[in-house]
Parts: sequence; structure tokens; C-alpha cells
Amino acid sequence: MLRRLHPEQPESFAFTPANQAWAEAQITKYPEGRQASAIIPLLWRAQEQEGWLTRAAIEHVAGMLDMAYIRALEVATFYFMFQLQPVGSVAHIQICGTTSCMICGAEDLVAVCKEKIAKRPHQLSADGKFSWEEVECLGACANAPMAQIGKDYYEDLTAESFSKLLDEIAAGKVPTPGPQNGRFASEPLGGATTLKDYTGEAQNGSVALATRLGDTLKRIDGSEVPLVTPWQGVEAPKPVDAATIKKHEPKPAMVAPVDETGTCRQEARETNKAKPEPVAKGAEIDPDIGTKPEMLTVARGAADDLKKIKGIGPKLEEMLNKLGVFHFWQIAAWGDEEVAWVDENLEGFRGRVSRDDWVSQAKILAEGRETEFSKQK
Ligand code: FES
Repeated sequence: MLRRLHPEQPESFAFTPANQAWAEAQITKYPEGRQASAIIPLLWRAQEQEGWLTRAAIEHVAGMLDMAYIRALEVATFYFMFQLQPVGSVAHIQICGTTSCMICGAEDLVAVCKEKIAKRPHQLSADGKFSWEEVECLGACANAPMAQIGKDYYEDLTAESFSKLLDEIAAGKVPTPGPQNGRFASEPLGGATTLKDYTGEAQNGSVALATRLGDTLKRIDGSEVPLVTPWQGVEAPKPVDAATIKKHEPKPAMVAPVDETGTCRQEARETNKAKPEPVAKGAEIDPDIGTKPEMLTVARGAADDLKKIKGIGPKLEEMLNKLGVFHFWQIAAWGDEEVAWVDENLEGFRGRVSRDDWVSQAKILAEGRETEFSKQK
């Protein structure tokens, strides 16, 4: 198959500020003179942001890595994981067409794609929301036939269940990934004969994690997790313990619309545009004070009850959520610069972060422990 750049290309490309910071941090992983080693993660991030790899994005990445453009183009055109043409704004469907999936019904799934999306692979659906392609083995052969949709696998599909999945996605939902025929994982169809304790769980590990993250169809704009670059002295927040994870396990996000339009990618694209700072009008903000922390566009799974932090009431919690703060681990990761920025940007509540030492409280709560104050809540 010929892999060429799409005839229609945008004029320019720029990473979102958060993705730019992420990309620059990736480059520092490699020794001087070996920066080109970062080519795949950077191209991948560009694709995550835009949905597909544009010529401008390839050139931008080549420039960042001080590479000849042709070298970056070689990488982008060699690997099939890079999409060289626009994909559906909601989802790009990848049907596995290799042996196990083919003999178990992959052709039926392709027929559904042709009927519901477009006659040919890599063609956009009439509404622009979907596209599809057939790919080689995705390594889930025991659950054939299967499809990768966004970041997750949908397995044990039939034409009917697959068709229903597409309808749900078109309606703005994100169906639960994993086996679609009631199987727990890849145990025998007649039921597990060993390790039965595990199959008693509601979901297998992969599905539970995918459900908790809830990012199946979302594009990465760089604001999802704090930028962790320990080699530059930026550490990850402490991992939350099992009890905290359990508490956050309900997965309403998986059945809720991705956003009101059902098009997360469009939301991510919106982040490319300059947004007004989420500070109430009238506030006299000093832009030179502190450093804005990494913010989230949506909560990752269930948002934490920030009111468990002494000094945060419903109004402040709402204000923080609007800024993109939903979790204790976000606050726990703030250093002096971030505290200064948030302190400055909470109109009507300036100085509260340091006054009530939110960071120390958040560190305790992020570990699943309680503070004297939170025990009373
Ligand atoms: S053959 Fe389809 S996942 Fe391996």
C-alpha cells in the first residue's frame, strides 16, 4: 500500500503548550547528538493532538529534533500506526483482519464498516465522525474477532454487537471495552476452569484500568497528567493506594457522553486556540506571579471531594474545577511557584492555598489517608 501525504494539508502546526513542554522533556531523555531518537514519541503526540499526521506536524517535529525533513517523513510513512489522512472526528476504527479474526468473522465487521461508515478504508463517513481501516494482528487473537477503537480493544465481536457499539459511540457514549460476549477475559467460552477467583471480579484488569482512565476516545492535549521528568528533578505525585483507587472505581464516565457533542478530538483541538484565563472578570491578575500548574480538561474518573481540604468550600471547589483541578494528587504536586499562581488566581479567595496549606493536606488525602479535618466530613 502506498503511503503518501494527503493532498489537502493545513498551513501550520503547533503543539499545545502542555504538549510542547512534554515533547521538549522527551528530547532530554537522549544524549547530546541523539535527539532524533525522540522522533516516534513526538510524531505520536502530534497525531494524538490532531487525530492524524499533517505535513506541517512532521516538519515541526523534524525541526525540533534538528533532523532533515525527509528523515522524519521516512519514519511517518513507514509505520502504519501513523495516519497520513484525516480520520473520523469521533473515532477511527481499526478492524483486525489477520487469521484468527478473519476465520472468526472479521469480514462481517468490515461489512458493517462499509455499510455504516464508508465504502473504502480511510474514507470519512458522511458526517465526518468516523473512519475505518483493516489492520494486522493486534495480539488479541484469543478474543477474535476484535477491533481497536481509540485507545482500547473491543473483543469477541459479532456484526450485531459491533454495529450496536458504533451506534452508541455515534450517540456520544463510550461503551465499556473488552469482551462483548460476557466473557471475563480470554478464558474458555464454556467458563473458566482455573483461576476462578479472578473471574469473579466485575472486570478484568485491562478493562478495569481502561474504564477508570476513561480516555478511550479522547485525544491527548498534554494536560492529563503532571509532566513527570525525574531526570530534570520533576517527580511524579505519590501513587494512590488501593483503597483510594477502589473508592474511585465506579465508572459512570464510560457510559456518559464524551462531551456534549461526543467529539473529544474537537475539544482537544479547541485547546490549540488561545483560551481566556479561567479567572472571573474584574480580577487584577499579575501574570508574572508564579507558574500555572498543569490542569486537566476533565476529571480522570470520579473527581475527588476537594471540600475535604480545610479551607475549600463548595464555591472554591467549583472555581478549582473550572480551572482544571479535580484531584488531590494534582494539588499535592504543586511546588511554591504553582501555589503562588493559584493563590493569585482565586478571585475572592486569594492566598487561601498557602494560608491553609492545601498541599500538605492534599498529600495525605492523595495517599488515601485522612486529615483531622477530613475525618469530620
Ligand atoms: S488475529 Fe486478530 S488479534 Fe490476532
